Amino acid sequence: METNRTRHLDLEGWRNSFSISDVRDRKEPKTEALQAMNTASFPLDSEQIHVQVTGKQTVITLPLEREEGLYGLGLQLLKLNHRGRTRYLRVNSDPKQDTGETHAPVPFYVSSRGYGVMVNTSRIVSIYCGSAVRLYSGLSGEAKDRNADRSWKATPVSDTVEIVIDEPGVELYLFGGPTTLDVVRRYNLFHGGGVLPPKWGLGFWHRVPKAYTAEQVMDEAMSFREKEFPCDVIGLEPGWHSKSYPVTYEWNRERFPEPESFVKGMAEQGFQINLWEHPYVSPDAAIYEPLVPLSGSHTVWHGLVPDYTLEEAREIYMKQHGTEHVDIGVSGYKLDECDGSELTRNSWIYPAHAKFPSGADGEQMRQLYGLMIQKMTDDVYRSKNRRTYGLARASSAAASSLPYVLYSDLYDHRQFVRGMCSSSFSGLLWTPEVRKARNAEDWVRRMQVVCFSPLAMVNAWADGTKPWSYPEVEAIVKKYITLRMRLIPYLYSAFARYCFEGIPPIRSMQLEAGSSVEAAGQEHALDSTDFAYGGVSDTDVDDQFMVGDSLLVAPLFEGESERNVYLPSGVWYDFETGERLEGGRTIRVSAGLERIPVFVKNGAIIPMMPVMQHAPKAGEAVALELHHYGNAPGRFELFDDDGVSFAYESGEYRWITLEVQAGADGMLTGSVSDAGEDWSSAYSTLDWVFHHQSEK
Ligand code: GAL
Repeated sequence: METNRTRHLDLEGWRNSFSISDVRDRKEPKTEALQAMNTASFPLDSEQIHVQVTGKQTVITLPLEREEGLYGLGLQLLKLNHRGRTRYLRVNSDPKQDTGETHAPVPFYVSSRGYGVMVNTSRIVSIYCGSAVRLYSGLSGEAKDRNADRSWKATPVSDTVEIVIDEPGVELYLFGGPTTLDVVRRYNLFHGGGVLPPKWGLGFWHRVPKAYTAEQVMDEAMSFREKEFPCDVIGLEPGWHSKSYPVTYEWNRERFPEPESFVKGMAEQGFQINLWEHPYVSPDAAIYEPLVPLSGSHTVWHGLVPDYTLEEAREIYMKQHGTEHVDIGVSGYKLDECDGSELTRNSWIYPAHAKFPSGADGEQMRQLYGLMIQKMTDDVYRSKNRRTYGLARASSAAASSLPYVLYSDLYDHRQFVRGMCSSSFSGLLWTPEVRKARNAEDWVRRMQVVCFSPLAMVNAWADGTKPWSYPEVEAIVKKYITLRMRLIPYLYSAFARYCFEGIPPIRSMQLEAGSSVEAAGQEHALDSTDFAYGGVSDTDVDDQFMVGDSLLVAPLFEGESERNVYLPSGVWYDFETGERLEGGRTIRVSAGLERIPVFVKNGAIIPMMPVMQHAPKAGEAVALELHHYGNAPGRFELFDDDGVSFAYESGEYRWITLEVQAGADGMLTGSVSDAGEDWSSAYSTLDWVFHHQSEK
């Protein structure tokens, strides 16, 4: 594709039978939205891009400046800035080491200089992010004496990024800026824009323990209503299938004698049902036999691994899911274990040399399996004009428009917060799900964070926890789940901008205007407790993030009562105390357990709905409070549609403009644009609430 924003490099000898864009059906770019952005020039000097194809391998060399930071590469829990590191982008279900391996490796990086590079392949990609130094580079002559020179570094500065793929040629995409957010927007829009979840997806989720019966599920769900803890989605874990590991996709009739009335009964109480599954098909499944000739050479837990690059295989899966789950009202899936990898704690996956009927091998299949299954399930819901929202444990590039949020079995809280930042560079969503806690403090800190994430959930599959599991902090947890619910109109509008404009709803500070949180190298003193090459410093801000355009969330972790917070330039207010703070600097904040530090931009308008036990249904209009903060004028685009169907794709939506203006006397007044007489809005009365109005 050749536009003024993206330039397609056709590499000689290119032959690519199976790639990311094939799985995504070459999803249509959002061309109009791309054209509405500023024009970007080709971001690099093409003379400095070199491609070498030797046998089956392609090496691409791109220029890199000394101070450049490199972000992205998928969900990265261990590092945000990859500068100076070698990244091996392999799918890994247990990504504990800092190698670049992850549940969702994305061969796309974003430079702090405002451009992005994506490789379109189904192969594992290695990227030397300024960690390989060529003999005749512009930096030769920088050798240092480690004994005498404290600025010696284990990884010398390199002036190149090198990308290595085991394919004889590959498709490479470059995305222009000028800002890092522009790069991410172009990348997302090029892949069809971001996902717009159904409104209920932004409510609270609870996954019940494995092997629960219909009755137990209903009882647990009703305890949310009794205790007035909002909840929209109940997730079923292994046990709802007639057999699991491998799975049948058929209901277990002992635990769920009448699946249809179970799902309906739950819906009547305002609960959506989400079903756990993995991709390995049990010999007891009705779809097993027809899938045998369409499956790979190896099994997982003795289950088939279907080749979903084949339409015939996709049809079998989609038909079964459509009739047995989607048609009876199931709202979506948790797509587990599509991220298997060798060389982890347990070896359960098919090998890289496995063969599939389409000609693909195990490596290619593993790299893109998560993407394929996300796409198939999305297609089922699309065909029924219903939006879904669910969980997936693997993903890849070109995933921004898919209705899935990533999760992990890992559980380090700081890493979980870093995931909120790293995922935003690659068109991915991530949930720092809460399962259990070391103590009440850990529980609260985790619950506070998850309530500001793309999917707010307790996953009690193994531990049987409930939001109120720690009675001493029950009120605080309720406060944050309630706030989450009240923020749905704000969050939903942020997602609509993700969909239409490619702006990630939750994002890293490095994507924020007025931010100068660039990578800064540090001298490293040698220390025998370290090792002979010293440590790599990382001064990037990776423990705070933006939610929408106006809220900055800076979590505290167990054992902490204060922390540094980087505030981008401008005036900010503490969301709870109302304290006015000057930005463009790092401040020190302290907060007790009852509070997660959240800051709101001067002039921000935050639309909030009343506390409801579940998200409003289609056709149900809710009254909004429009909260304005500070003394600056402000504007907010409120997205208004039915909240559940794809009607918005054919123009059935409105943007309602909320505006606050300051009169000559400094008095603030709010106005709301008219959605039109013929429009039946999801919002009824809109009342203004002004905060800090007196400060002029
Ligand atoms: C894991 C998954 C957990 C839970 C469990 C059930 O693979 O990450 O969240 O669903 O399977 O067996």
